[in-house]
Amino acid sequence: SQDFPRHFLRDDDLTQAQQADVLRLAIELKAARTAGLHPKRPLEGPKTAALLFDKPSTRTRLSFSVGVAELGGFPLLIDASTSQLGRGEPVEDTARVLSRQVALITWRTFEHAKLEAMAAASDVPVVNALTDLLHPCQILADLQTVAEHRPGGVDALPGTVFAYVGDGNNNMANSYLLGGAVAGMHVVVGTPETHLPDPGILEDARRAAALTGGSVSVVHDAAEAVAGADVVATDTWVSMGQEAEAASRETPFVPFAVTPELMAGAKPDAGVLHCLPAYRGKEIDASYLDGPGSWVWDEAENRLHAQKALLVALLEAREGLPFPGA
Ligand code: CP
Ligand code: NVA
Repeated sequence: SQDFPRHFLRDDDLTQAQQADVLRLAIELKAARTAGLHPKRPLEGPKTAALLFDKPSTRTRLSFSVGVAELGGFPLLIDASTSQLGRGEPVEDTARVLSRQVALITWRTFEHAKLEAMAAASDVPVVNALTDLLHPCQILADLQTVAEHRPGGVDALPGTVFAYVGDGNNNMANSYLLGGAVAGMHVVVGTPETHLPDPGILEDARRAAALTGGSVSVVHDAAEAVAGADVVATDTWVSMGQEAEAASRETPFVPFAVTPELMAGAKPDAGVLHCLPAYRGKEIDASYLDGPGSWVWDEAENRLHAQKALLVALLEAREGLPFPGA
């Protein structure tokens, strides 16, 4: 089997088998935690993880902080606005300085290329905590949630029909295409013709799907997108950094809102995912968040478990240990 990657910047940094191993470990760690156990402590010492944020965050900040602590480490939160990174210190210099003192770096930033530059200059694992292009940690949590809620678990992810409706030109759409293809799912993005996924990502997703037996497609009719779906996901119409365009980012997406009418065309037992924060009455009907069968709160919790599993894999690989270990 292929070596676990040094960094996790893109959904397709993991092979299908590595992604499945991470998801299985996430499910194990979740069960252990319920029993009060924390069996994996790769950051014991404590070693420090630098958690860098150039954009706001609730879930990512929370889940990496709690996760690092539960892995035995110390989470050091660094905001761009209060660090030299925010004043223009080169990414490479920051990476060199951090690498001398921490065991791990996570970064939420704007341009994906800056994250790649950080990874290239870092001696320690770098994890994508969201860029304008991709949000791969979120997709691990989403896949864990699908595995938990559908018969067959992780083994049944291949072949799952996964629809995403809304803004096709954002990090979530791109990561669903790429991460879903790695999982062997059939990913359908429903979005206006004016808001297409990143063409390079779409091509990479097609390549990943060819290896796993999955498929990817982009359609411009919401009913067509969700027809026969096992899972339907959506995301905000106004991503971080797009606040000034908010007024023009509503009308084109209205037909793609997740409503009971739209969901009538999905499979009868289909679940709904939303990475949060959500805007009730815009991209999603409140019932899919506040109703009894909502998957969304499990999805938010699973950020913790999925990222802990990912960090275990990255840190153990760095020590030359096989993943998954005993
Ligand atoms: N879903 C997600 O990444 O949430 P935050 O922006 O709150 O971290
Ligand atoms: N597409 C959203 C995801 C938030 C977690 C954004 O980038 O703001």
